[in-house]
Amino acid sequence: MKFFCVPQALCLKGEVALLGDKSIAHRCIIVSAIAKGKTVIENFPANQDCLFTISAFKKLGIKIRQAPRKGDAASVITVFGKGLYGLEKPPQPIFVGDSGTTLRLLSGVLAAQSFEVTLKAASSLSRRPMLRVTGPLRMMGAAISARCLKGSAGHEEYPPLTISGGALRPITYQMPVASAQVKSAILLAGLYADGATEVIEPIATRDHTERILKLFKAEIQVKKNTIVIRGGRQLLSPGKIYLPADISSASFFIVAATILPNSRVCIKKASLNPSRTGIIRVLKRMGADIKVTRSPGRQVARYEPMGDIIVKSSKLKGALIKKHEIPSLIDELPVLMVAACFAKGKTRLKGIGELRVKETDRIKSMSENLRKMGADIEVIGGRGAQDMVIRGVEALKGARVKSFGDHRTAMSMVVAGLGAKGKTAIDDISCVNKSFPGFGHILSKLIVR
Ligand code: S3P
Repeated sequence: MKFFCVPQALCLKGEVALLGDKSIAHRCIIVSAIAKGKTVIENFPANQDCLFTISAFKKLGIKIRQAPRKGDAASVITVFGKGLYGLEKPPQPIFVGDSGTTLRLLSGVLAAQSFEVTLKAASSLSRRPMLRVTGPLRMMGAAISARCLKGSAGHEEYPPLTISGGALRPITYQMPVASAQVKSAILLAGLYADGATEVIEPIATRDHTERILKLFKAEIQVKKNTIVIRGGRQLLSPGKIYLPADISSASFFIVAATILPNSRVCIKKASLNPSRTGIIRVLKRMGADIKVTRSPGRQVARYEPMGDIIVKSSKLKGALIKKHEIPSLIDELPVLMVAACFAKGKTRLKGIGELRVKETDRIKSMSENLRKMGADIEVIGGRGAQDMVIRGVEALKGARVKSFGDHRTAMSMVVAGLGAKGKTAIDDISCVNKSFPGFGHILSKLIVR
């Protein structure tokens, strides 16, 4: 196996333009495909996950054109939407790789189609729980079969899913887990239901689906944690959509620039959606020097706030991260754990149990790896309600660590390696292509050694 070697870095300096946000990109493809008219999506991230969403809709009979932009991996994608009822039965099962967002959101759309489709997943996604999405979609009237397993935590369902959709009824659904993917699947199904579907979140999660549906003129209302969508109305394409830079990808540079002395990094046109910027709020509370300037006036991304993020190195102190903040930084928790190792004092992350069911168990992957580098980490509490306590150490030391096949573990460990004394070797970082194919290249241009 070829290890990826990360020597300690002096500092990071420079400006980065990142590809579009992965979460927003999936939703743009899905909603454009079931809307009427042509939609041009700019700064589209051609990462593995998003390409699975494109390929799924091509198999469902939607014409999608992809034109690479000269000089980088961003694409301009044109989706020729056929309206709510324009999808066609695919000749074969649809393979969605390890893309959980593709699988869960697509399930919502397929729940309303008049044909049967099987969704197959690769190995890591095949181990992730699906009952949270199949449950409410069945309540709306879809027939769904899945691979069922009885475990210590009770009955659970896993891919492959076979969905036989049809006429849906509206439901009022109080979500037991805070999950934007589940919320989005129900809202997408709600577009087809005969009446008003109501989703109530225990804690507000990312609201990209709501924003995009509004942009496409869906009848959707949001009041605090309740979202109401009325079905039966055709969606209309706004024509052109620009995707702001992915804040989750940006977070690796934000943390690296914070912990490495004398750094200054500017991330251009980043997504500043408040339901995603928990990482900025928490790092600032920890003492980070982060300045955000929202793009003024006529925004290119009318439906999502965006702007520049300027990060300078600073001394961090420990902080308490409460449960209600977790959805706003769920994907940034691994890299936040790295930041906490470099902070003075204790950082407590409360209610992070959902990390157990991501691409890998990120509580295990990160605590195992960081402990090898000398971190002081304690995991407290039972399944679903777990806390992590990290006490800052004088310095992390380079070690041999593992990505566990997980993109965010891999990139977080690269950041840890940049700040650690000596060399860090990561077993396999090819998994970063799931969300961020250009990661190594962009990072190498910023690093000063
Ligand atoms: C996502 C929601 C989150 C996040 C995932 C992307 C989305 O998952 O972890 O990377 O695009 O809706 P959950 O909905 O499972 O929390």
